[in-house]
Amino acid sequence: MQKIVIVDFGSQVTQLIARRIREIGIYSEIIPFQNFDAYFASLKDLPGAIILSGGPASITDENAPLVKKDIFQKNIPILAICYGQQLMCHVMGGNVKSSDHREFGRADIHIKTECDFFSEIPLNNGKTTVWMSHGDRVEALPDGFEIIASSDGAPNAVIRHKEKRFYGVQFHPEVTHTDHGMQMIRNFVTKIAGLKADWNMGHFKQTALTQIRQQVGDKKVICGLSGGVDSSVAAILIHEAIKDNLTCIFVDHGLLRHGEADQVVSLFKEHYKIPLVHVDAADRFMAALTNISDPEQKRKIIGKLFIEVFEEEAAKIGGADFLAQGTLYPDVIESVSFSGGPSVTIKSHHNVGGLPERMKMQLVEPLRELFKDEVRKLGKELGLHEDFISRHPFPGPGLAIRIPGAVDKASCDILRKADHVFLSEIRKAGLYNEIWQAFAALLPVRSVGVMGDGRTYDRVCALRAVTSVDGMTAKSYPFTHEFLEHVSTMIINEVKGINRVVYDVTSKPPGTIEWE
Ligand code: XMP
Repeated sequence: MQKIVIVDFGSQVTQLIARRIREIGIYSEIIPFQNFDAYFASLKDLPGAIILSGGPASITDENAPLVKKDIFQKNIPILAICYGQQLMCHVMGGNVKSSDHREFGRADIHIKTECDFFSEIPLNNGKTTVWMSHGDRVEALPDGFEIIASSDGAPNAVIRHKEKRFYGVQFHPEVTHTDHGMQMIRNFVTKIAGLKADWNMGHFKQTALTQIRQQVGDKKVICGLSGGVDSSVAAILIHEAIKDNLTCIFVDHGLLRHGEADQVVSLFKEHYKIPLVHVDAADRFMAALTNISDPEQKRKIIGKLFIEVFEEEAAKIGGADFLAQGTLYPDVIESVSFSGGPSVTIKSHHNVGGLPERMKMQLVEPLRELFKDEVRKLGKELGLHEDFISRHPFPGPGLAIRIPGAVDKASCDILRKADHVFLSEIRKAGLYNEIWQAFAALLPVRSVGVMGDGRTYDRVCALRAVTSVDGMTAKSYPFTHEFLEHVSTMIINEVKGINRVVYDVTSKPPGTIEWE
């Protein structure tokens, strides 16, 4: 099978490059730059292409991340993105200058030379729009390179060495804000590097099964089920790999949605015959969360308690050496840097950053490199029921991160009812599958209202519904005003404790999808 190697210099979006390559149908591996030279030296077969990612460093820094020159001497096509482009120019004898002026956001690039890189891309007066995010820029090109596209802020927006098949871009073709970025990557991979699609989710499944068996051997694994698609897919995959050496543990932390516990338990026990322990730990979680209002503290408490409960349950079934989780890539990148490089913590997702430092079990996380839509494809490959595959994501900390401020049982009960009304109405309107995620949040704000002849002084409920491809960016869903009014009336009539409903129209970024 052909392979593309992606060298990671710490960009927040390196995994997006990998998923674009997977979408094209080619196997790829991401190697952190620190390990790359040893990895490259150990390869028996050279990769079909190399992609150098972006990253936060400056090539002009004394300790700038580098890789050996070898890769430029082996007749391997290279696509160098942003920091990668600066590195390529630096190593090949060009000149890169640091600049005080950062260019960030969408910019038009003007195509100067007809070239396969822009094949099948509709141009507007010779231009297309891309997503720039860089500080330094290339001042003098190395020998043999030419400029094929420029923007106002980046004269060397796209450069190439035609014979060597080296391409450098100052912008990010892997993000959806670059209008035809996917086509540019496809052109590089298929037309310039000449690779052909020979990989799919079936291959991913086979590789994952082998890796799980290698990692776990004949030891026991427990898997925490949250009710979402990720942990369900992880559990079914691991069960296929190691059969009944897997026990699933479903912890009802009292922060689940309406009816969720019954649905999950019946899916696993009845449909899949996977050993499942159902723990009701609601009182314990509520007690631990009493008077805790800081979002990071809530996440950490929930993560820690989850592990405690898992360890206790594992002990009851004779011990387990591994804890399996349905961690996805967006959970990883927003908690820690995937490659060990310097990327910023946005939230400690409970199944990653919230883990206690000293945990007895080792982690099994077979979905760690995937995005949500890829997990759904894998779910299909594994025969998971459509109702589960299309389910909106649900975070491990559950309703606790949809109740800003301190959480208690009464608030959870109110929120569960409002959330159920909202989701039922979305389903009735046939909108469920158009929306990536929809939920209600209960705000720690009271407002005055009037119902019948009486005054009310109750909580505010915020509705949130977003469209997204992978959860990394999102836009609010454009419901009609009538729909929102209808849901608002239903919630206020049916849910005691809420007298005002608002709709959250913030996109991600700058907002996040969850409220905490
Ligand atoms: P944010 O709020 O960061 O969420 O924009 C992106 C996606 O991730 C989900 N999410 C989580 N999933 N554990 C999870 O398993 C978590 O701690 C967590 N926090 C957020 C969120 O629901 C959305 O789909």
